[in-house]
Amino acid sequence: MQIVKSIAEMQSICRNLRTQGITMGFVPTMGALHKGHLSLIQRARSECKTVVASIFVNPLQFAPGEDFAQYPRTFEEDCRQLESEGVAVLFAPDATEMYPNGAVTTITVPGIGDRLDGASRPGHLTGVATVVAKLFHLVAPHRAYFGQKDAAQLAVLRQMIQDLNFDLELVSCAIVRDADGLALSSRNKYLSVLEREQALVLHRALTKIEQSIAEGERHSSTLLQIGRNTLETATGIRVDYLAIVDARSLLPVATAERGVLVAVAAFIGRTRLIDNFLVA
Ligand code: PAJ
Repeated sequence: MQIVKSIAEMQSICRNLRTQGITMGFVPTMGALHKGHLSLIQRARSECKTVVASIFVNPLQFAPGEDFAQYPRTFEEDCRQLESEGVAVLFAPDATEMYPNGAVTTITVPGIGDRLDGASRPGHLTGVATVVAKLFHLVAPHRAYFGQKDAAQLAVLRQMIQDLNFDLELVSCAIVRDADGLALSSRNKYLSVLEREQALVLHRALTKIEQSIAEGERHSSTLLQIGRNTLETATGIRVDYLAIVDARSLLPVATAERGVLVAVAAFIGRTRLIDNFLVA
């Protein structure tokens, strides 16, 4: 696996691959890799000739006071995992390479970018859209792989790709969970044993809603109440949002039809976790 730190070198490698007609799958990450990330790599491997990954803890998507400084960084171990998954090129720039002095241009997706996580973390999805647009420009992949776990991120990127005519296919990949249902996240590392137990209520609340839908309940207001009732049984958590929305616009919907997004975010102690499912 080639590890590349400079934008110029990355552009030249990727331009070369593309002119050779090699299908390129791209998996952007912030590192601290787990099986969720690896599932994206595996999917890309199965659909593309070459897989390019990136590791960059993007300062632009963290607000002051958020966990940028503490964010887990496990670069050596990440490299071992990417190598054994058959990644051909890893782009791992530092912040001054990505944002040299004087860089001021950002990409904002108004509306969608202000909903769900965009509402609770102002500027977060602008930070995401900006770094992903930059990465798309310099990798120019045929396909880019993202997890359904970050549903608001996915909606923002889908809109950005359409609006800015990025010539690539966005592939969304299913949420990978631990055996007890907790969605894998790099931030799970922050949880104490007790908090990890408390965090399970997110998945429990979503499962409750999913069961109610399967039993025929479709009214969002009733389903949200069912979810809230479950969330209220937990101690040590503070709900940020529980929402039933259109998966593309992230606007609330009155009934939970097929394809609708049911999403939750909550603080477990100081750790903010998210989870969701799409109505079947
Ligand atoms: P990061 O949180 O490292 O996630 C990288 C990719 O892995 C994202 O597409 C995310 O949705 C996916 N992912 C995370 N946990 C997952 C899980 N349990 N199952 C399936 N996929 C999962 O998301 C980011 O980084 C950043 O915002 C980034 C897009 C790299 C831009 O900085």
